[in-house]
Amino acid sequence: MNPTSESRKNDWRNVDADRYHTHTGEYANRVDRRAILEFIEGHSGVALDLPCGSGRMTRVLRAKYRTVSADYSPTMLEFASNDPDFVGARVDAFHLGFVSDSFDLIHCLRLSFHYANFERMLAEFHRVLKPGGILIFDSLNPWTLRWLLSFPLDLIRGKDSRSVHFRSKSELAKMLQSQGFEVVRTENRYLIPTRFYQYLPSTLQTLLSGMEKILPRSIRVLTYWKVLKPKGAS
Ligand SMILES: C[S@@+](CC[C@H](N)C(=O)[O-])C[C@H]1O[C@@H](n2cnc3c(N)ncnc32)[C@H](O)[C@@H]1O
Repeated sequence: MNPTSESRKNDWRNVDADRYHTHTGEYANRVDRRAILEFIEGHSGVALDLPCGSGRMTRVLRAKYRTVSADYSPTMLEFASNDPDFVGARVDAFHLGFVSDSFDLIHCLRLSFHYANFERMLAEFHRVLKPGGILIFDSLNPWTLRWLLSFPLDLIRGKDSRSVHFRSKSELAKMLQSQGFEVVRTENRYLIPTRFYQYLPSTLQTLLSGMEKILPRSIRVLTYWKVLKPKGAS
């Protein structure tokens, strides 16, 4: 692993889980949960919720899957373990300590864009997924409001702080193919950065949600991906 990934990982080690949980906001929780519920419809088995973070999505997964929560951050895991049904482990997504072909689903929200070498993670996800298993993750799109905002943010925070990686659909499609995945479905959502919605009055949230339906999908901030490890794959 390159040194940048190593320091990025350690950024998360002592993250304030309480703050993270509150700052995601109910609007984003609702949109994410609805999208994931649609993506997992008709599936079941054993899921890996990685990274589980504060555990905000785990209940959605449990509706269909026996779910293992996993994260690199002990503070996030501690927060998530307040859930009485919590089953979890501390892991590094680059080196998962699970045997090959273990999971029917890997659910990986808000992680891919934090790392320059996401393809290394994809290789590990492919290894621990069963043939016929599904990976769900999200990516940040270039040429969006969030992308525009990244330029002043990088200037203010310093390039190496929490800068994120924007990847086009074609770039990701190639990366997924090279790691042995087949794209099943994608869905673009959010006109503005996901966390901004919570600061808006509900009328403005509704207005933005209406505008989202009219404006081109390509300017939406985030893409959810549902991809398959094909049945014949090892
Ligand atoms: C933005 S949060 C997203 C959490 C959750 N998926 C959600 O949508 O709320 C990013 C999470 O990734 C975890 N993380 C960062 N690098 C990781 C790594 N290399 N392996 C496992 N978890 C990691 C962090 O500890 C943090 O909980």
